[in-house]
Order: sequence, then C-alpha cells, then structure tokens
Amino acid sequence: MTRVLILNGPNLGRLGVREPEVYGSASYTDLVAAGERWGAELGLEVQVRQTDDEAEIVGWLHGAVDDGAHVVLNPAAFTHYSYALRDAAAQVTTAGLLLLEVHLSNPAAREEFRHHSVVGAVATGTIAGFGFDSYRLALSALAVRLVQSA
Ligand code: DQA
Repeated sequence: MTRVLILNGPNLGRLGVREPEVYGSASYTDLVAAGERWGAELGLEVQVRQTDDEAEIVGWLHGAVDDGAHVVLNPAAFTHYSYALRDAAAQVTTAGLLLLEVHLSNPAAREEFRHHSVVGAVATGTIAGFGFDSYRLALSALAVRLVQSA
C-alpha cells in the first residue's frame, strides 16, 4: 500500500487550545483520527506525526526518502524561515516522491512574515486556508496524482 506521512511542525500539537479563532476548536488528536480515516478511504497507509523539534522533522523527511513515502507537510512556523527543512523537503521531491505543503489558515492573508514560504518552491504543491480540509484536499490531490502517473 502507498505510504504517506502527514508531518506537522511546532505548536500544532496545541490545536484546539491555540488561537481557536484562527486554527479551529478541533484538537490534534482529532486531526490524527481524521488523517487516518481519509487515508483509509483513499487506499493510502497514512501515519500522522507532530514535533516541535526542527531536527526531528528533518529526520522524518530523510526517513520518507529512504522508505519511499510521500509527504503531506504542515511546517508551521518553520515554513517561513527553516532552510534546513526546505533542504530536507527538496530531497523528497527530487527523489520523485510527492510533498504537499498544507496550512490550516491562509498565511497570505495574515501577518507579513507569514507571506513567504521557504518550502513552497520545493513542494509539489500547496493547499492553504481550509482548516482540517487542507489535509483532506492534499491527500485527495496526492491520490489523484498517483493514479495519473501510474
Ligand atoms: C500554519 C501557519 C503558520 O504561519 C503558523 O506558524 C502555524 C500554522 C497553518 O497551518 O496555518 O503554526 O502553518
């Protein structure tokens, strides 16, 4: 079965508590359950992870390359400044795997510092602004792309 890692960066473990007016009232546990359910519906083996640690998420991206897993990545604040994460994400797409950048909110409609993503240029594509549905849309787009390229 096609493997997909849904990787989440810093503070996303605080969903439901953190700025619910921006990120919604559902919890990170809800996101894990939804991601696994959507994956099963699409015939994808989905694993959802979250870390506040840049080194850990970089290591997970290396693991995705080594294991041939596609990635749905919400880099959270790392989006805007982590060249280490960008370079690790580039290894995923240059290996021929898909990497979809997702955001719950629409960073382009928020503070200036959120307008630029250092990851976007090495991602397969980006989906932002749809809350949890950003992840669902990313999984669907990934499944469609896999069928198209089969
Ligand atoms: C976010 C947007 C980022 O700007 C922010 O730092 C986050 C979450 C989102 O999902 O909307 O932590 O990636």
